[in-house]
Amino acid sequence: MNNFTFYSPTYFAFGKGQEVNAGKYIKRFGGSKVLLHYGGGSVVRSGLLDRVCQALDADQIPYVKLGGVKPNPRSGLVYEGIDVCRKEGVDFILAIGGGSAIDSAKAIAMGVCYDGDFWDFYCGKAAPKAALPVGTILTIAAAGSEGSGDSVITLEDGMLKRGAGSEHIRPKFSILNPELTQTLPAYQTAAGATDICAHVCERYFTNTKEVEITDRLCEAVLQTMIKETPRVIADPNNYDARANIMWAGMVAHNNIVGVGRDQDWNSHGIEHELSALYDVAHGAGLAVVMPNWMEYVMDHDINRFCQFATRVFHLDMDFANPRNTAMAGINAFRRWLRSIGMPLTFAELGAKAEDIPKLVETFGIGDGETGGFVHLNKDDITNIYELCSRETIPGL
Ligand code: NZQ
Ligand code: ZN
Repeated sequence: MNNFTFYSPTYFAFGKGQEVNAGKYIKRFGGSKVLLHYGGGSVVRSGLLDRVCQALDADQIPYVKLGGVKPNPRSGLVYEGIDVCRKEGVDFILAIGGGSAIDSAKAIAMGVCYDGDFWDFYCGKAAPKAALPVGTILTIAAAGSEGSGDSVITLEDGMLKRGAGSEHIRPKFSILNPELTQTLPAYQTAAGATDICAHVCERYFTNTKEVEITDRLCEAVLQTMIKETPRVIADPNNYDARANIMWAGMVAHNNIVGVGRDQDWNSHGIEHELSALYDVAHGAGLAVVMPNWMEYVMDHDINRFCQFATRVFHLDMDFANPRNTAMAGINAFRRWLRSIGMPLTFAELGAKAEDIPKLVETFGIGDGETGGFVHLNKDDITNIYELCSRETIPGL
């Protein structure tokens, strides 16, 4: 196991009705005037926004509202949010929604405390030295942004989707009420579940040896998702399955399952180009990319893929030909993704093979290499996109 530090100071309030305590937590973490930041309307339609406003009114906490965050959140609204916060003297941002609202809130939080362009943090020009405190009320289990120090934004000028990471933007508190996810359409539930699995897999496929504890934690999260996702798709109001998924989404990405081991993250980079170009759900893009990435790199460490097949999907080990077991595990993962309604190919996602050169160009590694499990260059990235663009998948 590698050396590591782990500091994950988000305060979680989990369970039914917890959103009424938002004002209490805002005060606890020093907020006196709040920006309520949310998406395209689901929190308005569900009545959640009104309930939060009433709770803040009752606690005498003034607030301003800024909705309209799009999935795959854009830079334009971040600039607007920074202006609003400065003009209104906002000192706390409460994101209400999913990864998109939370990531946009984090970008605004960093931008308010910075004299330059907030995009400097996303293109690697600068590292944030401060940010306004952020709290969240989560409405979809997916990105894990409610417990992570990361934010992903798309720059409208060029549609570049990039991430920034800093301890300054890890949420001070996150309210996780599984009931709030019951209004999700099945497709969004499934895309979120796929993202959760991908966050685990990015960490599970590692070159670090002797990491039994985090291997087993990863497998537990994956098995929970494999069991619970079909239950909530069959019955969207299944509270207990929703609750298990919601906590799995947090555990998958606050790095408790990834400490002490190298991590890969190429599938995420490859997917981000798809959601930037086609505006598809991040999790749906991952359902196409991740199994193809697995197939492309599996020979690097067949034993690890056999471990995935036998421990996660309970497949029998083919000792005479371990490669068969590894491939069977990847296809079991694909079958599960298909069973929850996720796409497996470019055609099913709405992506086009003729865009591959453009996708590789914006991926932007030039002549370099990237990835913590297997180093990939731009030819490898092209090859993975080409696997994604196959019309049929052998063995399925
Ligand atoms: O905008 P509204 O109207 O709220 O609708 C949203 C949106 O259309 C809807 N939705 C959310 N909760 C709902 C609901 N509809 C009905 N009922 C509810 N309870 O679902 C749609 C998707 O929402 P979004 O916030 O975009 O989903 P998600 O949480 O999957 O976030 C995706 C973004 O997070 C980034 C992704 O790249 C993508 O931009 N990620 C962020 C990470 C991080 N910060 O750590 C890590 C991830 O790997 C990921 O890259
Ligand atoms: Zn993700």
